Amino acid sequence: MPPARQKIVVLSGSGLSAESGLPTFRDSAGLWNQYSWVELASPEGWAKQPEVVLAFYNERRAKAWAAQPNAAHLAIAALESRYEVVVVTQNVDALHERAGSTNVLHVHGELAYARGTGRSRRRYRIDDKPIEVGQRCDEGTQLRPDIVWFGEETQHMEAARAHIAAADKVLVVGTSLTVYPAAGLVDAAQHHAEKVLNSLEMDEVPHGFRFMAGRATEVVPPLVAEWLS
Ligand code: APR
Repeated sequence: MPPARQKIVVLSGSGLSAESGLPTFRDSAGLWNQYSWVELASPEGWAKQPEVVLAFYNERRAKAWAAQPNAAHLAIAALESRYEVVVVTQNVDALHERAGSTNVLHVHGELAYARGTGRSRRRYRIDDKPIEVGQRCDEGTQLRPDIVWFGEETQHMEAARAHIAAADKVLVVGTSLTVYPAAGLVDAAQHHAEKVLNSLEMDEVPHGFRFMAGRATEVVPPLVAEWLS
């Protein structure tokens, strides 16, 4: 009986997709330094100006669709050749899947989906298509982006916590760990697990994590090569 595969969980944020040309949120050119998240990423903003919110996400969806996975996304996907890998991402782009990762949990939703605002909250795959005012779900409610806005419930948290608690290695990449409850997932990592965090800079490195400063495309591929050797 071959030995069980070791398990790696990757927790990623917008910094991972920065080198694919997609903006982060809190860096100097980050989205929330240019726009108001209250107006564009909250139920209140949606109730007040749905057309403005739709236009914002339509533009983000088109950009994300045109973007390509970078060397860090590809390296993370390559880990599956030797490890059981689960990717827990705060990102709403599909670059992990495009790079070849087969087990991805999107805790903040996905740009490639729309959903109704009725009881069923049914999701609809829309890929790069825009959502317009007046487009309705089967229950007759206005379609909205399937994105978790501030004040809304984060998705897949139970599963994400369980995966991290069972991981032999945890890699956190490209997130400022400032938005909860996703940021709190690092606390589920086991004491004995190898824990690595890559970011350009970090105010506070969670306990037990080895901090590797630098661009994800420069830090993650050699780390993965080490883990695959
Ligand atoms: N390589 C590695 N890390 C990078 C790179 C890069 N090329 N560029 C930026 N970073 C790092 C920054 O140093 C920062 O720590 O990525 C992090 C980005 O942090 P945020 O902008 O706060 O983004 P994120 O952590 O993904 O935001 C979390 O907040 O607005 C909500 O729902 C949204 O999912 C998002 C959540």
